[in-house]
Amino acid sequence: MEIVRMLKGRDFLTLLDFTPQEFKYLVERSYQHKHGLVAGKPLEGKSVAGIFEKPSTRTRVSMTVATYQLGGNFMELPTSSLQVSRGETLKDTALVLSRFVDAIAARVKSHSTLEELAKWATVPVINMLSDKFHPLQALADVFTIRERFGERKVKVAFVGDGSANTCHSLMVASALYGYDFVVVAPEEYWPDKEVLEKANEIAQETNTIIELISDPREGVKDADVIYTDTWLSMGVSDVDKRLEVFPPYQVNGELLSHAPEHAVVMHCQPWFIGQEITADVAYGPKSIAFDQAENRLYTAKAVLESIIP
Ligand code: CP
Ligand code: NVA
Repeated sequence: MEIVRMLKGRDFLTLLDFTPQEFKYLVERSYQHKHGLVAGKPLEGKSVAGIFEKPSTRTRVSMTVATYQLGGNFMELPTSSLQVSRGETLKDTALVLSRFVDAIAARVKSHSTLEELAKWATVPVINMLSDKFHPLQALADVFTIRERFGERKVKVAFVGDGSANTCHSLMVASALYGYDFVVVAPEEYWPDKEVLEKANEIAQETNTIIELISDPREGVKDADVIYTDTWLSMGVSDVDKRLEVFPPYQVNGELLSHAPEHAVVMHCQPWFIGQEITADVAYGPKSIAFDQAENRLYTAKAVLESIIP
């Protein structure tokens, strides 16, 4: 009961703001939503403003359907259709939206945009992806791993771009949930130092390990989960360099032959088949990527219901 009360009114910008107990509650609550154990329409009469500076399929649809199923209304607001496109400040946007809606969700280019919105909004602000973090995704990822492996301790290997949103959030989520985590990436694409330091503080508390490895075969050798994401996240500029350094990190049959037989493959999608993952792996028997995508719905419901007062 205490956790339920603690979550109300909170922003959901990064999982670094949550305790292991709070994060575990959100995973458990996602399970309850998936299995029809939550009654009523907790968002009846409530609205969520959904600001998009970048494209989205899974996040946009899961948040829309989640809000609807909880009894509320999700408004899609591409920034090109808002007055911010004509120079209205984020401050005024946040102050005005707060007079109409019960939460502001935003997918932004720079994480600082979310921080500015959250500074002025008087309603909770939810990160639907920034350059630095993708917490809604990581919650669904851990929920999907828990669904597959039960209560046992798991080791997650993130293979590819360790410096982007997906890896950052999954690293923090793994530490919060009690999973060991290994970043398997070229050194220049290892995680942001500050995020790593904070994730390590959580890992100490939860008795888990975070490793950084640049050899892909070594990195996957005792992993239960092999996770990858695009090498070319939205907004990156060093495309040529990335296409040069990342190919040894492709998740393909050869790499998987160095992982345990029982290992599963995950990807937040959208994927770029032939770059970070091959078609036989993406659509093959080890892939749980579509369960992962489906689970975005239940985890979105858990977050919306928990933080909107
Ligand atoms: N995984 C994810 O966030 O997908 P979208 O970009 O389609 O929302
Ligand atoms: N890292 C990817 C995730 C897309 C859901 C990106 O930022 O483009």
